[in-house]
Amino acid sequence: MAQAPEHRLDAADDERARARAAIIAQTMADIRAIEDQLGVTRQGVEAIRDRLLEMASHREAFALEDFPCPTEGPRGCLYRLSEDADHRFALYVNSSAGDVATPAHNHTTWAVVVGFEGKELNRFYRRAPQGGVEQIHEFLVENGTGVAMLPDDLHSIHIDSRALNFHCYGLALEQLPNREYYSESTSQWKVFPANADIREARVDLALC
Ligand SMILES: [Fe+2]
Repeated sequence: MAQAPEHRLDAADDERARARAAIIAQTMADIRAIEDQLGVTRQGVEAIRDRLLEMASHREAFALEDFPCPTEGPRGCLYRLSEDADHRFALYVNSSAGDVATPAHNHTTWAVVVGFEGKELNRFYRRAPQGGVEQIHEFLVENGTGVAMLPDDLHSIHIDSRALNFHCYGLALEQLPNREYYSESTSQWKVFPANADIREARVDLALC
């Protein structure tokens, strides 16, 4: 009866964290190279999306229990998986219990959303001549699909139930003070604040 399940669990968790860190490191190296080659262009961000889709196919490296939702307050949070020392190339897990609907917003840097678990509806907009936004299309992000945006592209996200997706940006969210969102209630463009709940989830391979 004298088992040590916690120890075996810890070892398995460590192994998964190491595997995840290696996959993420290779993915981000490739993404830096893609941006260097193709620039911040439609072709470039779509190539970044495709590279992240490949990363997300390593399902064994990303266990849902590694990225729990908040137990109180807002029903979603971000886990930071990677970010360069100069804050470029930031990768997050967006872990949500649902009940999420953002207003239309831009990013002022390129942005990619790739699905893993659950469904995240992305709606896309253009600025309307009268000052608001007009939806131009929508796309359901789920396992195996993703969307890619240039800095001025406008989208909103809508999550109804448990979802875990990857969000990647050319620059970390805390470094984007000029992101805008359109407030339907006041008919005004306002500054979109960074997510208040960004949790550190980077693993230093050198320390493993
Ligand atoms: Fe966004």
